Amino acid sequence: MTTIKAAQVREFGAPEVLRTTDIPAPTPGPGEVLIQVSHIDTLFVETQIRAGWGRDYFDEQPPYIPGGAASGTVIATGPDTDPSWKGRRVVAGPGIKGAYAEQITASTAQLTPIPANVNLLDAAALATDGVTANGIAETTRIEKGDRVLILGAAGGMGTLLVQMAHAAGAYVVGAARGAEKLALITHLGADAAVDYATPTWLTEARKALGADGATVILDGVGGELGLQAFTLAADGARISAHGAPSGGFAPLDPAEAERRNITVRGIAELQFATEDRTRLVTRTLAQAAAGELHPTIARTYPLEHAAEAHKAIEARALAGKAILTVA
Ligand SMILES: NC(=O)c1ccc[n+]([C@@H]2O[C@H](COP(=O)([O-])OP(=O)(O)OC[C@H]3O[C@@H](n4cnc5c(N)ncnc54)[C@H](OP(=O)(O)O)[C@@H]3O)[C@@H](O)[C@H]2O)c1
Repeated sequence: MTTIKAAQVREFGAPEVLRTTDIPAPTPGPGEVLIQVSHIDTLFVETQIRAGWGRDYFDEQPPYIPGGAASGTVIATGPDTDPSWKGRRVVAGPGIKGAYAEQITASTAQLTPIPANVNLLDAAALATDGVTANGIAETTRIEKGDRVLILGAAGGMGTLLVQMAHAAGAYVVGAARGAEKLALITHLGADAAVDYATPTWLTEARKALGADGATVILDGVGGELGLQAFTLAADGARISAHGAPSGGFAPLDPAEAERRNITVRGIAELQFATEDRTRLVTRTLAQAAAGELHPTIARTYPLEHAAEAHKAIEARALAGKAILTVA
């Protein structure tokens, strides 16, 4: 039996529960392809699921292989699958299962061809964050004249949102923790960067946004910080409260939002059907091919060191994303 390496969560717990193991090489079924994986996306939420958080929302049960998206090359096609997929560089996902592996199968509906001038590393890094960032951009319709506050602005998705809001002509205030992350946010086009680990951050953010506050808030952090940011919202603001790395989504008061004509969208509105995900991956990769959008990859880790990647994400040690690589 041919085997491949995969990183598996043996039980819920600390990053060390994520260990490389040998599993049988997968075989593509009807309508599927087999992909030799090159790079694998990692997400903050995968560290939360591995730790046992969110049992009401997520159905993973150990032992399981994490990972919702990867890039690679199609090396075989299943029965009834268009053979012309073979040899193509593709992104699989987001929305696949078990991407932390050397080889994966995916249905052709979950594949997006990668443009010639986008490399496999960038393609993997953009796969999930690009879908969500473009989904948020579609619903919040950021435009010139908007004052946009982005929390978690130096994260995988935050770094894309900063670029998109800047490109739309908005005035952008990015918030994150630490000097390195603030420098990154400014480099990506934010007009101001504030450190929400300091007690004066709200005052600084208010000063940067102006007395009327933010017309758009993109909250990738949640919890108390998300709640504080709500006080900076202008009447009629659009808020996307999609983040929970602080431990929970921001508990915004719906009555207060209604009274002030503020639209609040949550994580539920960022769950896309396969068709929409593929459409948004295609758009993201086209933006990258055109030089309009750049992923920020803080570090790559060999697949065998997936636990280290999780450790760094949890420690908030990365300015940008962690990506796993397959030798
Ligand atoms: N990526 C997606 O496609 C997607 C989809 C739906 C929802 N979301 C949600 O959006 C949020 C951001 O996602 P992401 O994928 O961009 O994650 P990420 O790259 O890991 O960024 C998360 C950011 O959260 C900040 N943070 C604040 N408090 C934290 C804490 N207690 N522990 C760890 N980090 C903390 C960190 O920056 P500082 O150290 O600067 O604070 C970090 O940069 C997550 O809640 C995620 O579940 C993401």
